[in-house]
Amino acid sequence: MGVLERSQPTLSLIECLCWCLVLIGGAHSQLTHPTEVNALRNIKGSLTDPYRNLRNWNRGDPCTSEWTGVFCYYITPSDGYLHLRELSLLNMNISGSLSPQLGQLSHLEILDFMWNNVTGSIPKEIGRITTLKLLLLNGNQLTGSLPDEIGFLPNLDRIQIDQNKISGSIPTSFANLSNIKHFHMNNNSLSGQIPPQLSRLPKLVHLLLHNNNLSGYLPPELSEMPSLQILYIFTLVIP
Ligand SMILES: *[C@@H]1O[C@H](CO)[C@@H](O)[C@H](O)[C@H]1NC(C)=O
Ligand SMILES: *[C@@H]1O[C@H](CO)[C@@H](O)[C@H](O)[C@H]1NC(C)=O
Ligand SMILES: *[C@@H]1O[C@H](CO)[C@@H](O)[C@H](O)[C@H]1NC(C)=O
Ligand SMILES: *[C@@H]1O[C@H](CO)[C@@H](O)[C@H](O)[C@H]1NC(C)=O
Ligand SMILES: *[C@@H]1O[C@H](CO)[C@@H](O)[C@H](O)[C@H]1NC(C)=O
Repeated sequence: MGVLERSQPTLSLIECLCWCLVLIGGAHSQLTHPTEVNALRNIKGSLTDPYRNLRNWNRGDPCTSEWTGVFCYYITPSDGYLHLRELSLLNMNISGSLSPQLGQLSHLEILDFMWNNVTGSIPKEIGRITTLKLLLLNGNQLTGSLPDEIGFLPNLDRIQIDQNKISGSIPTSFANLSNIKHFHMNNNSLSGQIPPQLSRLPKLVHLLLHNNNLSGYLPPELSEMPSLQILYIFTLVIP
């Protein structure tokens, strides 16, 4: 008898759990995709934020509770979750490093960390965000080389990595950025030859490569580019 009596509350507990799951399932249309919420937590964990500019990043939902620097799409897509459109953390005295989890923000169009003190390298995982249009990382302390993967972003319009400490060569894969208009890479430690393949880029308007450590020849093809208006490559080291 005792066993039967105890089984009664167990059943209603299961019932209650089921209802809770149904309710959560029905309400998720108003929430940010869990993968992106987790990614944001991880991104914050890799940053140092002495002025606590990201202090509201533990309250409620990123998209619906207006987390600082987080901007989402207003429409709810077919998966029923909200997605980040923009992460803009410019000028916030932030240091620390960029988490590879940035690559999980799979619907992002704008990634902006301009004018902070971020160190470490640019995560290659950013190359997975195929929706990305603006990659704005200028005015930081970034080191390491440019990941080849950035060259696989079909919608990239603008890459600003100027005024960092980025080294290594300019990846040839950047010649795949068929929608790129602005390449701002001046004031780094980039070295090696400017890939002549960059002259394939049909929409390039600004190519800024001055104050680096580039060497070799100036590809003559660059003078034949259809859209190019400004080209700064001075201080090229001719070996
Ligand atoms: C950044 O640091 C400067 C100088 O310490 C301070 O005046 C400014 O208010 C800070 N800005 C933010 C957004 O934290
Ligand atoms: C970056 O760090 C340097 C040295 O620690 C400091 O002088 C500068 O104000 C910082 N800049 C920003 C934007 O946080
Ligand atoms: C991208 O660039 C690499 C290196 O130049 C090249 O091998 C590859 O075929 C390119 N991919 C596309 C899709 O253009
Ligand atoms: C860029 O580098 C040059 C040469 O090192 C330097 O004179 C200039 O101040 C730098 N510009 C900026 C905005 O940091
Ligand atoms: C430029 O390259 C030379 C030779 O590779 C190296 O010795 C030097 O440290 C580099 N300078 C910068 C600013 O990266």
